Amino acid sequence: MQSDFLVIGSGIAGLSFALRAASHGTVCIITKGESLDSNTAWAQGGISAVLSPELRSEGDTFETHVADTLDAGAGLCKEDVVRSIVEEGTATIDDLLDYGVQFDKVEDSQNFALGNEGGHTKRRVLHSKDTTGYAIASSMLERAKAHPNITLLENHFAIDLITSGRLGYVTEDRVLGAYVLNEQSGEVQIFRSHRIVLATGGCGKVYLYTTNPDSATGDGIAMAWRAGATISNMEFMQFHPTCFYNPAAVGAKARSFLVSEAVRGEGGKLINSKGKEFTLDHDPRGSLAPRDIVARAIDHEIKKTGASCVYLDVTHKPKGFMKERFPNIYNTLLSFGLDCETAPIPVVPAAHYLCGGVVTNDSGKTSIRGLYAVGEVGCTGLHGANRLASNSLLEGNVVARRALDSLLISQPLNATENEDDYQIREWQIGDATPIDEQVLISHNWDELRRLMWNYVSIVRTDNRLSRAAHRLRNLRKEVRGFYWGFKVTRDIIELRNLVTTASLIVDCANQRKESRGIHYTLDYPRTSSKFERDTEMRRF
Ligand code: SIN
Repeated sequence: MQSDFLVIGSGIAGLSFALRAASHGTVCIITKGESLDSNTAWAQGGISAVLSPELRSEGDTFETHVADTLDAGAGLCKEDVVRSIVEEGTATIDDLLDYGVQFDKVEDSQNFALGNEGGHTKRRVLHSKDTTGYAIASSMLERAKAHPNITLLENHFAIDLITSGRLGYVTEDRVLGAYVLNEQSGEVQIFRSHRIVLATGGCGKVYLYTTNPDSATGDGIAMAWRAGATISNMEFMQFHPTCFYNPAAVGAKARSFLVSEAVRGEGGKLINSKGKEFTLDHDPRGSLAPRDIVARAIDHEIKKTGASCVYLDVTHKPKGFMKERFPNIYNTLLSFGLDCETAPIPVVPAAHYLCGGVVTNDSGKTSIRGLYAVGEVGCTGLHGANRLASNSLLEGNVVARRALDSLLISQPLNATENEDDYQIREWQIGDATPIDEQVLISHNWDELRRLMWNYVSIVRTDNRLSRAAHRLRNLRKEVRGFYWGFKVTRDIIELRNLVTTASLIVDCANQRKESRGIHYTLDYPRTSSKFERDTEMRRF
């Protein structure tokens, strides 16, 4: 396969890039599994934006959105990046409207209904009921599938990037393509392109409990790391405070069901089993404080009382409210036997969003020529040490727009360079045989996710981190054995990427000897000006 642009991933970032790039050249989008199996498609809350003056909330300005983002980011946001992304909010919403996304409007009006979420001081979250991400992803996918310049290949899983450096060329390191597993045939193919956009999302599956789909296995971060790109701030994994607690759940969707922060934005209150709004003991904003504070308050409450969960209470809202405003949440809970209009919803925090990732500038450009990382996989500096709710869909779209402009300048399509100048080796299977004991892989998956949950989640210590590092060393050895000894499968590649991503999280967490944003350690409970900088990692 050869294309002008190769996009890996089919969430908002990948699709937004592809739809624009298709006016300039051929685009191939590859995605493992199905194209709607992305964090974007699972997003409930919405997309934050300060709209034109007549459409925004009274008193809202770019400056207030910038200030809220900086406040949540706990000193590590890049202010210029924040400002420039926030200022493109209106253009982003216009793009999405052009793709056919329908955002909710105020009844009997043409004005958008604006929601609220933790850390926002104004209502500025556009939404489509409580399935905003699905509305965005499905509209964009429909366009992409119909575009003559776009080839969309599902069940195609990128294993590794091919770079000139890894092939032994001593010129400036540049990206040349990717080895890709066809999940159906089991064959590994070469996809050639000098312009590659990683839009692979995050890595929630590193943890036992997550709001992410099964596909969130840190693939782009692990590939970029192996290719030698700089990775940053991996210690900042955001835990969403309200994942439905459902001990009887079977299947990823049931285990990982998010109850959107927008529910608290509409007055939902977090209470303990005695009915007390315990978050007020931690922050005057109570249930609507930024996520790091609320998740830690819940963790504290659960540890203090020995309870299995806390509760999100919406029973005081008028009858019919939940069904009308949050139909997906209302109906899904009902399918699990819970009527949230009459009983509080049991919830626990779960891994939700990675604020670190592959280091990029504000156009998604990485340290490797021709390689861009956009959306959750990238780290532009917008989120700092803690992402403000609903800023991620905004970032995905804005940075994708810019990535195209930047690529067209740095890698012009009419450049004389011939892609065939580089000899790319076919994938070698050597003596590899099909894996005989699948149980070994699933056991390692389980061990990895449990150890990350037990030692590297909301509250950390040096001791817990060094235990995790020790166990990860053994896991890495075993996974290397699978990878080199057996024919590659989706499970083996995902496990390899999860182990790499988990190791990067632990290594970054070990470097940050302070508490800041979502990285909290009992050994260094204060924020230190010495650590007011990004944690950077690079493989040599
Ligand atoms: C939510 O709906 O609570 C998630 C929003 C986000 O993570 O930005």
